[in-house]
Amino acid sequence: MAILVTGGAGYIGSHTIVQLLEEGQQVIVIDDLSNSHLEVFNRIKAITAKEVVFIEGDVSDKHLLAGIFKKFDITSVIHFAGFKAVGESVANPLMYYQNNINCSLTLFACMQEFNCKEIVFSSSATVYGDPETVPITEQSALSATNPYGQTKLMIEYILKDIAIADPAMRIAILRYFNPVGAHPSGLIGEDPNGIPNNLVPFVAKVAIGELPKVYVFGDDYDTPDGTGVRDYIHVVDLATGHLAALKKIKDHVGCAVYNLGTGQGNSVLEVIKTFADVAGRDIPFQISARRAGDIATCYASVESTTAALNWSAKADLKQMIKDHWHWQQKNPKGYKSVH
Ligand code: WQD
Repeated sequence: MAILVTGGAGYIGSHTIVQLLEEGQQVIVIDDLSNSHLEVFNRIKAITAKEVVFIEGDVSDKHLLAGIFKKFDITSVIHFAGFKAVGESVANPLMYYQNNINCSLTLFACMQEFNCKEIVFSSSATVYGDPETVPITEQSALSATNPYGQTKLMIEYILKDIAIADPAMRIAILRYFNPVGAHPSGLIGEDPNGIPNNLVPFVAKVAIGELPKVYVFGDDYDTPDGTGVRDYIHVVDLATGHLAALKKIKDHVGCAVYNLGTGQGNSVLEVIKTFADVAGRDIPFQISARRAGDIATCYASVESTTAALNWSAKADLKQMIKDHWHWQQKNPKGYKSVH
């Protein structure tokens, strides 16, 4: 019995694989390495003393994917593979629809052909758009405001329709809020290509002196200090949530949706101050214009997830930033630090 992890060389995938291996699972990974690095598998082995079976390739490659299902007894799938930069998706929507939707359609067709009934899908709180009220529950209105979010929403609808057509399917859709942090070993972590779009990796680059200052995208939101409020969740807690979802679908048919967040919100200025305290150095920042598409406040209601999966996030913001900083200090150039 094996678990196929698509996009497993990525940030959340690699942290989830560590826990799968520590649980004694056989893990097969397919990843095109478009936003990840082969070095991550050496690091996973250093942490777990175990190895994955890695196949480099595109999930939309039907022949390659069928070959994996033929060769291994894939009993469940965790589907991370996909492009995930909001701004890039606005600039190049077709690339996002082709990649994210085609990969998913090829994967789901393969699962059907090889009678694989279990899947955990990596979705995102971005499908909630600009919420009417917070905290956001799984029943909140869905309204993706960018092509990246649209692809996540479309894939959710595809999975829901598959579950209606085949009542034996066992599907968990996980809506992540804002993943941050790194494995406490500092051996794996977030390694964005180029200048980071997201706040915490950007602040980390300022803390190591690679970037001069943080630009705070607006301080005139209707929030306690005027800056954007988000639900930051430790990537290790996120990984644990995937294993809890995998356990849940072992004996629950149908398609269920779960918010993976902490239920707490923190502002941009709180994140910057916490990072300065943890790193013991000043983090220069400048208030600048709002970023198009940003919302004021977004944090999760995690009541139903906690009850259904018997899971809750453990790490607070300070721990997330401590682990993120530890990773950044040990890997100033990410995985590219390796020659
Ligand atoms: C957080 C806050 C910004 C950068 C995105 C995606 C979402 C998910 C997580 C994939 C906001 C502010 C940011 C900066 C800033 N990704 N900010 N200066 O936008 O909440 O969510 O990443 O699933 O889909 O939308 O995360 O880290 O970009 O922004 O002031 O340089 O930090 O305005 O308030 P976001 P973020």
